Parts: sequence; C-alpha cells; structure tokens
Amino acid sequence: MPSSVTHPAADTAQADRVVVTGGSGFVGRAVVRAFLERGTPVTVVDLHEPPAELRHELLTHVPGDLRNAAVRDAAVPEGAAGIIHLAAITSVLRSVDRPVETYANNVEVTQELLELARQRGVGRFVLASTNAVVGDIGHGTITETLPLRPLTPYGATKAACEMLLSGYAGAYGMATCALRFTNIYGPGMGHKDSFIPRLMRAALANTGVEVYGDGAQRRDFVHLNDVVQGVLAAWDKQYTGTAIIGSGRSITVLELIDAVRAATDEALPVTHVPAKNGEMPAVIVDITRAQRELGYAPDVELTDGLRTVWADFRRGMP
Ligand SMILES: NC(=O)c1ccc[n+]([C@@H]2O[C@H](COP(=O)([O-])OP(=O)(O)OC[C@H]3O[C@@H](n4cnc5c(N)ncnc54)[C@H](O)[C@@H]3O)[C@@H](O)[C@H]2O)c1
Repeated sequence: MPSSVTHPAADTAQADRVVVTGGSGFVGRAVVRAFLERGTPVTVVDLHEPPAELRHELLTHVPGDLRNAAVRDAAVPEGAAGIIHLAAITSVLRSVDRPVETYANNVEVTQELLELARQRGVGRFVLASTNAVVGDIGHGTITETLPLRPLTPYGATKAACEMLLSGYAGAYGMATCALRFTNIYGPGMGHKDSFIPRLMRAALANTGVEVYGDGAQRRDFVHLNDVVQGVLAAWDKQYTGTAIIGSGRSITVLELIDAVRAATDEALPVTHVPAKNGEMPAVIVDITRAQRELGYAPDVELTDGLRTVWADFRRGMP
C-alpha cells in the first residue's frame, strides 16, 4: 500500500513528473520506458509491480487499486506535469458481465483523478480511449466528429470519460486529451486474449485457428511503437481534444492471418466457425486529425510489427 512506498518529497523535480496509471500494463510499460529514456521522472500507479527491466532511479511505483482514495492521493503529487491515464477494465466481455464494476474502475476513477489534478495544479491529462465510443457504423469511416453511440459498457464508460475530460478542459483550462486507439499489437501482449496473441499461440503450438464467419471483417491494427509516438506527441503539444491513433489502414482478418504466416513462417490453417452475433463488420478509421494536429506518423509496417510480437512469444515473454 502507499504507506510502504517512498515517494519523492515535493520539490522542483515534480514539475517534470508524469504519473502513468496502468503503467505496468501492455501499453503502460512501453509509455513508461519512453519517458524514462527521455530522462523524465515517472510514477507508475498500478495493482501490479512494473517488470524488472523497467527498474530505474527515476521510476516510482505506487501499488494499489485506483478506486482507493489513499492510492490516488499517494500517486499524484502537487504540481506534477501531468497524468497519462491508462488503467481501466479493458475487456469488452468483462464489461458486459460486470457493468457496475466497469463504471467504478473506468468512470469514477477518471473523475477522481481529474479532480485531484485540478486541486493539485496538474495541468495535463491524457486518457486512453477507444473507437468503440462511436459504436457500429458498418463500413463507414470513423472520425472524431461522429456522434457517441457506444454499444457496450466498455465503450460507454470511455465515452463518459471523454465527456469528463472535455468538461475539465472547458471549466478549468486543463490540457485534457482523449486518444482513441485502434487494436494495438506489439511486444508484451502475451497476457491478452485478443486475436493476434491467439494467432501467435497457435503458431507456437503448430495448430490452426478458428475464424468467426468468412473472415472478411476489417480491423485497424496499430503497433505499440506508433501508439507510444502518438502519446508522446499529445503530451508534448499539451493537446486538448480527441484524436484517433491507428495505422490508418484496415485489413481483413484473413489478410491479418496471411501477415502472421509471413511473420512466423507457420502454416496456421483456418477453420471457419459461425459468426458471432453483434460483431462489427468493420473498423475503418481516419487518422488525419492526429497527423495534422499532433504530427503523428505511424511507420511500423504490419509484417515487421508482427515479427516483434513473434520474437516476444518465442522468448516466452508474458
Ligand atoms: N490494447 C488495446 O488494443 C487498446 C485499444 C483501445 C484502448 N485501449 C486502452 O488503453 C489502456 C491500456 O490498455 P492495455 O492494453 O495496456 O491494458 P492492460 O490490461 O494490459 O493494462 C492495464 C493496467 O491497468 C492496471 N489497472 C487496471 N485497473 C486498475 C485499478 N483499479 N487500479 C490500479 N491499476 C489498475 C492493470 O493492473 C494493468 O496493469 C486501457 O485504458 C484500454 O482501455 C487499449
């Protein structure tokens, strides 16, 4: 708990400090590493300890559950540079099973952190959001200007968070920014149950994969390095608003499987099983705003990016 944590005393170093919630997670670890490489002091607040390879004199870990006020209090020092808020219930299925818990973790925690930031003069707040806030628009292109019509508790909680950020920017002049990530892939996703880790596990085991329906569903897969680039750009520009961070190129599930075959050199035979009810036919995003306003320029090619995941799985990394 926070009492056991040595927190740096409030001093001028806090002016540079970035607080990364969920900093021990898949995206968080990469974001934390990028800040440490820049020489920026980082506080990770997470249920889990950051992995050993992130150990650094500039890194502080506040362990605990962000629903607990004492944990939030220990994590956000007076006058810190800002908060990058990644901690959340991230599974859509879990959100459907546990909507109240999802609300508490995703919305209430965001409100409490925004308020703490306001009280403590912390002027920057970056939220990890999702394109699921707009719901199903068929094969249309998702932009930041579409109405919010989420179809799951997960999407709804992120939409609610975006509104809270907007209110705090409007009322208190805070630089609040929601980055809507598409499907992120990269090293460090071994604990996930999403499609790319499942493909990697099948490739490792020399087995096949099940594809729901005809496999023509389109998705946008963005590499973790590009996501980190987007987060740093929003941070550096003190951007206020919403921006979609994706690769800008949607591919079908069957095309993804081909790319994984190329990256792994494994056959990955496919079995088609009945389509799931309610699955979105496509996620096609327009990343123009992030390119124009943040200077975001995704540059990881899919097969190259998948090789970084494959190398990670072959090393047996979590
Ligand atoms: N991974 C993706 O493809 C993707 C896509 C869109 C949006 N996002 C968003 O990006 C963010 C990061 O996702 P990720 O893939 O790194 O998830 P992750 O599950 O790997 O990491 C989340 C981290 O948050 C921590 N956490 C969760 N609830 C907490 C709580 N109450 N108190 C303290 N710590 C808590 C977890 O311990 C974990 O380390 C999430 O907000 C997610 O909704 C991710």
